[in-house]
Formats: sequence, structure tokens, C-alpha cells
Amino acid sequence: MADKDRVERLLASMTLEEKLGQLNMIDAGAPPMGEPEMERQLAAGRIGSLLNIHGAERLNRLQKIAMESRLKIPLIFGLDVLHGHRTIFPLPIAEACAFDPELWERTAKASVEETTRAAITLTFAPMLDVCRDPRWGRIAEGPGEDTLVTSRYAEAKVRGFQGKTLREGVAATAKHMGAYGAVAAGRDYGSADISERQLAEVYLPPFEAAVKAGVAAIMPSFNDVSGIPATAHGALLNDLLRAKWGFDGIVVSDYTAVVELIAHGVAGDLVEASALALKSGVDIDMQDEAYVRGLPDALKRGLIVMADIDRAVRRVLTLKERLGLLDDPYASTSAPPLPANNHDALARDAARRSAVLLKNENSVLPLKPDTRRIAVIGPLGDDPLQMFGCWFAAAGMDSATVVRGLRAALPQAEIAHEVGAHIEEPGEAGIAAAVAAARKADVVILCVGEKKEWTGEAQGRGHLGLPGSQRELAEAVLAVCKPTVAIVFAGRPLTLPWLFERADAALAGWFLGSEAGYGIADVLTGAWNPSGKLSVTWPHDVGQIPIFYSHRATGRPAAPNVYYCNRHADLPIEPQFHFGHGLSYTRFAVTKLSATPAEISGDEPVTIEAAVANEGSVAGEETLFLFLRDPVASVARPVLELKDFAKAMLKPGESKTVRFALSRKDLALLGRDLKSCVEPGEFQVFVGGSAERCKLVSATFRYK
Ligand code: BGC
Repeated sequence: MADKDRVERLLASMTLEEKLGQLNMIDAGAPPMGEPEMERQLAAGRIGSLLNIHGAERLNRLQKIAMESRLKIPLIFGLDVLHGHRTIFPLPIAEACAFDPELWERTAKASVEETTRAAITLTFAPMLDVCRDPRWGRIAEGPGEDTLVTSRYAEAKVRGFQGKTLREGVAATAKHMGAYGAVAAGRDYGSADISERQLAEVYLPPFEAAVKAGVAAIMPSFNDVSGIPATAHGALLNDLLRAKWGFDGIVVSDYTAVVELIAHGVAGDLVEASALALKSGVDIDMQDEAYVRGLPDALKRGLIVMADIDRAVRRVLTLKERLGLLDDPYASTSAPPLPANNHDALARDAARRSAVLLKNENSVLPLKPDTRRIAVIGPLGDDPLQMFGCWFAAAGMDSATVVRGLRAALPQAEIAHEVGAHIEEPGEAGIAAAVAAARKADVVILCVGEKKEWTGEAQGRGHLGLPGSQRELAEAVLAVCKPTVAIVFAGRPLTLPWLFERADAALAGWFLGSEAGYGIADVLTGAWNPSGKLSVTWPHDVGQIPIFYSHRATGRPAAPNVYYCNRHADLPIEPQFHFGHGLSYTRFAVTKLSATPAEISGDEPVTIEAAVANEGSVAGEETLFLFLRDPVASVARPVLELKDFAKAMLKPGESKTVRFALSRKDLALLGRDLKSCVEPGEFQVFVGGSAERCKLVSATFRYK
């Protein structure tokens, strides 16, 4: 609990300028007023927080300037720690493929050890934007297409970042509320014109989960939601977030999003923009100085009253109090530095759990221990900087590449490397050498994909193929007809049906972070039996987008050889790979699904049990998904909805029972009036290793 009296005393002693200072967050790496002026404003109490800066000595120096201001209110230091700080873990879309909340929490906790030493007190993570459109570059920063997975990810990350009390962790920011992942055509900052139902069913539950987990901050998204920019969305930020969900933390705008309300066309000038954002529930204004410049006139024009400002300042001071900054503003510089490789083992484990084996034919993987000559070909085979993907503030320049990983794993093998093609620029000069290397090899590891700079913000893509001459390179190498493993590095699914057809094996290598190459080598050699599963449906072609497993039932469902059905005339009905797809070096069988009792009522739970067996010859871990379908309801329901997932580690020949429980709340839907209800009748449950319907086992029960 925050010390409310202390906050109130402080608030009562503040001038308007000092109050607005607390709402003013400035990018210390690019202060709009220049550095000397920034320091002057810090000393005058006109800036309340800084972002994009880290390192205890540097931050303590700035903190000292702020502590010399009249009221000595310390600064919050914010940074994006999307998937690591100094140690970089897999991109969120990749880490989600581990389907492992405990891992998600551990990597956040490990990052906190690094960021608190760097004096960071607020992170702009986790990103919780459900996304079903891989054209959108920021799909890389979130945990994929599913609402339940994103909600579990939210809870795990909030626990990991914040710890039990904020004094021992960093404040987390659930971002970007709302429906940012639904921007039209995947073009960043565009409009998300979606129904209230979709907003409530798909995009908002992860934010509610984060609030329930105690998240300290929320960031509204850049986009408009059906015409109302999220930064000016009082119904979302005041009525839903605060009044209904009970959120009591801070709302921090995205970078210059307040002033952008003018460009959105919902504010006539800076004064209106700042008043609108404040009234809509935005407490901190990031980088555009809209509040310090606009709110004094907004007061004069009567657009806001002092109580509106006080409310926001109170929230900011409360956060500072909860973080312990009012007692101890400085980061310790005497804490022993973390050993250099402290989190490497965790990063390697996260990397191998996040890689997804998409295809494996002709027993090409795992690589035989006596493989002598391996050719690693492609621009992503040995480029350490690329393995990070977007956001890697303090990581330095080095990471483990595939070449490094394989050389360490197979010291007796000859590992040749040819870049073959530039990652992005056309040019076929390197292809001949790559083909020659492939000819000499027993196995080819083809490392292709998009560049890390194409993952993340403002990186919408219209084509999801390989850039530059990488396809020419890949085709030339495949034509050598050596056993070939394709590793696709990307922050999203790439549409490469020709590659998945022709390579013997394919691995989604995403961007797996500092230890990427070691984790991938573990998978390639079988030191780790792959267990990753896709957190997004992988399309064949851009034209299939949006394609996701939990689409609504239609009157004319897609079916092979049916003319008038829900299909494209010129594309397959099925995706390239289903949500949840991911192969192992063993085979699992799921049988004996039961739902008991057969009828439930009230809050009584139904228990769902399935037997899962390892029918292969190596130990392995299977993730089982529990899907629900409500076949008859007042509103057409998705054909499958994920309700839970669980893991089973099985020795060869071993079988286990996996148990799930569903209760009334899991059966709820939004009725025609958009109010939550449970409608009596039959429910179907499906269990299996992916969302591929024909491979799921099913059972039914009734709700009375
Ligand atoms: C991004 C946010 C990020 C902020 C601060 C913005 O451009 O949209 O996700 O937290 O910058 O770095």
C-alpha cells in the first residue's frame, strides 16, 4: 500500500509548473529541448521521468540534479525491456512458442536483475497486442494470435518484472491498449476499425489479466479504435480500465501520441490535444511536452480543472512512492556486478524451447553424430547482431550464431560457411561459392529470412517472402540435392511454400537472442528434443491473411472440393502450418478423452482428461491444447477457442494422463447485448497437439 498522506502532502505543496513536470516524460537520448536545457528543467522540477537511458552512474547523476529541485521529487527511469536487457532472450513471438509461463516469468525476472543494476525503474513491457496479421512488424513484440496465451503471458511477465512488491522489481507497462495488432493491412499506426465484440472478446482480455496481476502502468496505442484514438479514449481508459477493472496505476502515453491527436483530427491545437488526453485518462505525456505547454492554457480555456491535473499527479507520485523512490532515489553502484555470463544458460534454454521444428523428413534431423561436413549457407548463418531482433538496448554487438553454435556442438565436424547473398540487396555474385560449398557438404543448413531491422515498429511488410536474392540462393542450393535444413529467421511467419516443400527439414529460428546459435545447435543435434509450438498460424500466402485458428463458424464452412464455401479460389484452405504446430523427434498420441461429469450446473467444474503417450524412441515434451466449442449459442461462436494448455514430459513408451478443469466462467460468451452470459446446452471439448482440427480428439458435456 502506498503512503497516501505523504503523497497528499507533497501534492499540496506543488506549484502548477511542478505538477506538470511530474506528468512530463522526456527521452534522455533525444530530448526535444536539447541536453543542457533538459538538465536545467530537471533542476527546476519540470520533468518527472526520463526514458531511453540506462546505467547507474549516468542515471544517478541525472537523479542528483532532480533531487536538487525545490521539492526533491525523484525521477522514474523508463526503458523498453521487451525481451531482455543485457542478455537478450527470444523475441516475444518466439518465446510464446515455448508455451511455458514459468519460463516467461523467469526471463523477465532475469532481466530485472540486469535492469535494476542499470537503475531502470519502469519498463515499457510486456506488449500484449494480439495479432493475426503477420504483415504488421510489431507482431514480433507480442506473444502471437491467441487471447488466452497473451493473457497468461501478461500474468507471467507482470509477476516476473514486478516481483512481490515494486520495491524489489521494476514497474511493468501493459501495452498498447487497444487493438493495436488489428491495424488495417498491418500498416503501423493505422486504424483498427473493429467491432465492440471483437475488441472485448479478443483484444482486451490480456489487459484485464495484466491489471488483475497488478500491473503498474498501461500504455494506450497509437492507433484509433473505430474512430477514437486510444490516447483520447475515455471509454477505454477511464470507464473500462479504471472504473470497471479497478486499475489504480499510471497511464503513460506512447511516444508523442498526445500531440498526434492533432494529426488524427480530433484536436484543433496542442491545448485541445493535451486537455483531451488528460480528460481521457492519460497521466504521463511521453516526449512531446504537450502537457507542460498545453495544459496551462487548457485550464484558462476551461477545458480542464485543477482536479484533473491533481488526479494524474497523485498517480505518478503514488507510483514513485510504491517504487521506494521517495525513500531511496539512487541506484546502488556498490551492488556487485553480475557475472558476465550470468543468464546465458537461461537464454540458451529459452532459445531452444522457442525454436519450432516445422518439417522433418527423410530423418535429416537430428544431425547424425558422425556428420563430417556441414555447409552453413545464407546471410543469417553467422551474423551476430542479427540474432537479437528488435529492442536490444544494452546487449552489445555479440550473440551466438548458428555457425558458432554448430562449431561448439560438433567439434569434430568441418563447418563451412558461405553468406551466398546479402540479406536484402539483390546480387547473385555469392551464389556460385555457396553452391560449391553445398556440393562438398553432407548436410546443408540454409539460414535465410528477413533482417532484424524489419521486425518491430513501423516495419509493416506487404510481401512476406525472402528479400534480396535469398530465394535465388536457396533455389540454387536446393538444386544441389543435398539433405537440406532451412532455418527461417524472422519476427513473423514468412510465406515460403516453395521452401517448405523442397527443404528436407525446416525450423522457425525467429530471432532467438544472445544464445540463439547454441539453442539452435541443441535442436539440430538432438541435444534438445524440440518442443516449441507455433504461437501464430503460419500462412501459405499473404492473400490468406488474416488467418487464425479461432475464426467464427460460417454458414458455408471451408471444405475441400466444395465450390460455394468459405475459401479463396486460388489459394489453399488450410494454412501452411497450424497454430500449435511443432514437431518433435518423437511421436505423441492423444487418446481416451473424457469430460466428467457429463452434465454440470452452477459453478461445478467439469474435468477433462486425456491420455498422452510417447510412441517414439526418445524422451520428449508435448504441449497439449484444450479447445472449447459452443456449437449452438445466441451468437455465432469461434470454431475452436483455446481454454488451457499443459505440458507432459514423457520417456519413450511412457503414457500420462493430462487433466484440465473448466468451470462456468470458461463457458461464458458475450450475448447479443455484449453482456457476459453462459447459455445452457451442449459443449464440445477438443484436445491435441495443435489446432489442426482433424487431429484433435473430442468429447462433450452439457451445462444445465
Ligand atoms: C513505441 C512504444 C515504446 C516507446 C518508448 C514507441 O515508439 O510504440 O512501444 O514503448 O516508443 O520507447
